[in-house]
Amino acid sequence: MATESKHADSPVEEQVVNPWMVQSKTAIDYMKLIERFGCDPITPALLKRFEKVTRMRVHPWLRRGIFFSQKDLENILNEYEAGHTVYLYTGRGPSSEAMHLGHMIPFMFTKYLQDAFDAVLVIQLSDDEKYSFKGRSEGKRLEEYNRLSYENSRDIIACGFNPDKTFIFSNLKTVGGELYENTVKIMTTTGNQIKGIYGLTLDNTVGQLAWPAFQCAPAYSNSFSDILHPDGPYEVNKYDASKVYTGRHMFCLVPMAIDQDPYFRMARDFAARFKKDGFIKPATIHTKFLVALGGINAKMSSTGAAATDTTIYMTNDLKKIRKTIMKHAFSGGQDTLELHRKLGGDLDTDVAYQYLMYFEPDDDRLREIAHKYRSGKMTSGEIKEIMADVVCEVVRKHQEARDKLTDEDVCKFFTRDRKFDLKHSDRPPLELHTDSVYEGYGINFDPTFGAEPPMPAEEDSKVDTKLAEASALL
Ligand code: TRP
Repeated sequence: MATESKHADSPVEEQVVNPWMVQSKTAIDYMKLIERFGCDPITPALLKRFEKVTRMRVHPWLRRGIFFSQKDLENILNEYEAGHTVYLYTGRGPSSEAMHLGHMIPFMFTKYLQDAFDAVLVIQLSDDEKYSFKGRSEGKRLEEYNRLSYENSRDIIACGFNPDKTFIFSNLKTVGGELYENTVKIMTTTGNQIKGIYGLTLDNTVGQLAWPAFQCAPAYSNSFSDILHPDGPYEVNKYDASKVYTGRHMFCLVPMAIDQDPYFRMARDFAARFKKDGFIKPATIHTKFLVALGGINAKMSSTGAAATDTTIYMTNDLKKIRKTIMKHAFSGGQDTLELHRKLGGDLDTDVAYQYLMYFEPDDDRLREIAHKYRSGKMTSGEIKEIMADVVCEVVRKHQEARDKLTDEDVCKFFTRDRKFDLKHSDRPPLELHTDSVYEGYGINFDPTFGAEPPMPAEEDSKVDTKLAEASALL
């Protein structure tokens, strides 16, 4: 990945995951990341509690262990259960004209979280970040990244966010007031701490070194007290009428891809240091990366020459997407049909199957596909066709929603001076499953549904002879 930043992780390490680089020769070891980042896995017990508190079925991506890691999610559930409103914060670095399918995962999931907690959501579009990190190598002006913020916001809004509960902002145009006050407080972090957390060095620009404070600041509710705490209490300055919120903070949950976690480790450290001022540690929830069409060891990328024809952009023509999938999706099938029937497909490496885990929500259908493909009854051409159908339908719906958006619709999301809907309504209690059902959720989820390879031919004949011997005895 092209980047101007210097980072401490050396590319010879077998696995590098940080905000600037995701690289691994083999499939990413997510359990190792949980350990290294000091996060906690999403367990069956947590998912049961999630359903109990939100009174909604958990999202398939929770059930299937795609959102697999978290920190202090329990605090959010406790707070919400006690009747308090919580808010959500996520973001996007607008570095490309169009967003690809991998970019959409955190936003599609955030839409579910907004419904589950009936929560206000703030979305930071970090045009300033992308200028600092990519401006020179991409030869783009600051204004260009700002333009991309609005461009990308259409793809984000098309996920279905509630306009009365969502504020989207260009960071470049918005920092100021209490958001900036928090940023300045976070900048009490030393250069050595920044180096330690992100691997940045004195060769990085001041903009790059300062960026982490800007990404952390929206994780504290007083950064948006006009939106989240409209009724105060406030201290008002008698000269310029500027306001500072002095009340209890609202809990914040940040959904994101796991590579963004370093920022929120810093955000949590800061909250601990400034606890006496009312700051609360943000809770986090992390997704794995959607694999690139080319194979299981990379996240989908929008940079590099190969990216243009192997990446599924949300703006792509559906026919092109189908062609791209049929041509480029890495197959876990065997080289010849004869071998495939004999050995079956490999579910762990098959890209079509990985995508179906994301985009085919029906477990019964997925189970059937897993069994047919693993046993060699379904060919890799057939599973790719299924993937193309499912993915094209997701993209088609998305395009339909985006095409419907008017400029006024988009404008509303960026408008701050309005009343946001802070109340959350109660759903009727949900009947929970038995514990044995939850036992197979989250980190325990079996992505293969117990599918077995076909029985080797010799075994078959052994069974046949045994059967023959057995019946001869009768
Ligand atoms: N740094 C993220 C990126 O490069 C964008 C971002 C800004 C973000 N604020 C965030 C991501 C909060 C997750 C949560 O894409």
